[in-house]
Amino acid sequence: MAIIGGGPSGLLLSQLLNRAGVDTVILERSTREHVLSRIRAGVLESGTVELLREAGVGDRVELHGLPHDGCYLTDDDLMVHINFKALTGKQVMVFGQTEVTTDLYSAQDAMGTMIIHGVEDVRITDLDQSQSCVEFSIDGVSKKLNCLYVAGCDGFHGVSRNTIPLGVRREYERVYPFGWLGVLSETPPANHELIYANSSHGFALASMRNENLSRYYVQVPTTDKVQEWSDDRFWSTLKKRLPSDTAEAMVTGASIEKSIAPLRSFASEPLRWGNLFLVGDAAHIVPPTGAKGLNLAVSDVYYLHSALIDAVKAKRSAGIDGYSDRALARIWKAMRFSWQMTTMLHRFDDEDSFAAQMRKASLNHLASSETARRELAENYIGLPY
Ligand code: APR
Ligand code: PHB
Repeated sequence: MAIIGGGPSGLLLSQLLNRAGVDTVILERSTREHVLSRIRAGVLESGTVELLREAGVGDRVELHGLPHDGCYLTDDDLMVHINFKALTGKQVMVFGQTEVTTDLYSAQDAMGTMIIHGVEDVRITDLDQSQSCVEFSIDGVSKKLNCLYVAGCDGFHGVSRNTIPLGVRREYERVYPFGWLGVLSETPPANHELIYANSSHGFALASMRNENLSRYYVQVPTTDKVQEWSDDRFWSTLKKRLPSDTAEAMVTGASIEKSIAPLRSFASEPLRWGNLFLVGDAAHIVPPTGAKGLNLAVSDVYYLHSALIDAVKAKRSAGIDGYSDRALARIWKAMRFSWQMTTMLHRFDDEDSFAAQMRKASLNHLASSETARRELAENYIGLPY
């Protein structure tokens, strides 16, 4: 198996395949340090934690992850509690994606799997033959890797998706007219559970990594630059958007990371073309409202790893034949949920006064209807595989 991309999708797939005796080679463009420097979301569904455990990388999640029974959705001082545990019997685990990736690299090292960093000019060929080929160069030297299958785990800007001919591919996209400015700070979290805040000033999120490491976000125009956001400006903007009690009690401090990410929903179908299978961000992007990005990548890996093991070890093709439809069915539901959460909680620039009333009504409905809260909780904790 050739795996293009050594992010969470590629690493987890490689880990599960190698444990089942299927050999893989990961081809990654960046250095390991660069991959591990990216700060991403930090909420794991229970299905994600279970698959990490099955892959032999569950120990640190178990030890250092923070189990959360619920979260808050707020509108100025209205706070709606979504009690996942009471509504669904399940929890989520707060544990940074960077930590997951670190654990996967260590586990891959321990197994001695092959990860080649610094590859350039990746080209995938012979996808309709019984043996496929990945050509690439490293330190200016051209190389060729023959393989049975190729997993495209190379993120939104990778080459795998574009290998599928335009006439075969269908793409769906919604670009939102705002981004998230994220700040990491060595301060205690503002609240013991996450707060997703709608306000007349725009959206904010209070999240965390541990008891002395907070992660916050505020909605900003896509044209904003990080340099325009001093720590003071960030904290005062955040405080205006959170419920007043929380804002008053919140501890602020110097930021240790600050970045702006655009928000988009994107999906490309099908996920399979010949011997190529797309996984994770290579095939779909969701806005971070609801923290579905990593969890969706993991459910793709869940479907694909068993299908590939069946194809390679037992020469049974039903699993790989069904991969695209099976994974897409779950992907579209998570696309819907993250789009709905984004629409319900963000201020759109050109919106009329009606839009703000609709957002308030959505939160008031959640406050008064257990059925509505259960529907949200069921999606947030992760739909079944
Ligand atoms: N050749 C080799 N490697 C590549 C290429 C290429 N042409 N293009 C991209 N890559 C590598 C990137 O450097 C990156 O390390 O592929 C990897 C893709 O990793 P991610 O973008 O993290 O995507 P994925 O592994 O699918 O992770 C799922 O969940 O929370 C979300 O977006 C978040 O990254 C997260 C995702
Ligand atoms: C985060 O902690 O980075 C985070 C949490 C929840 C989200 C998005 C990001 O929905």
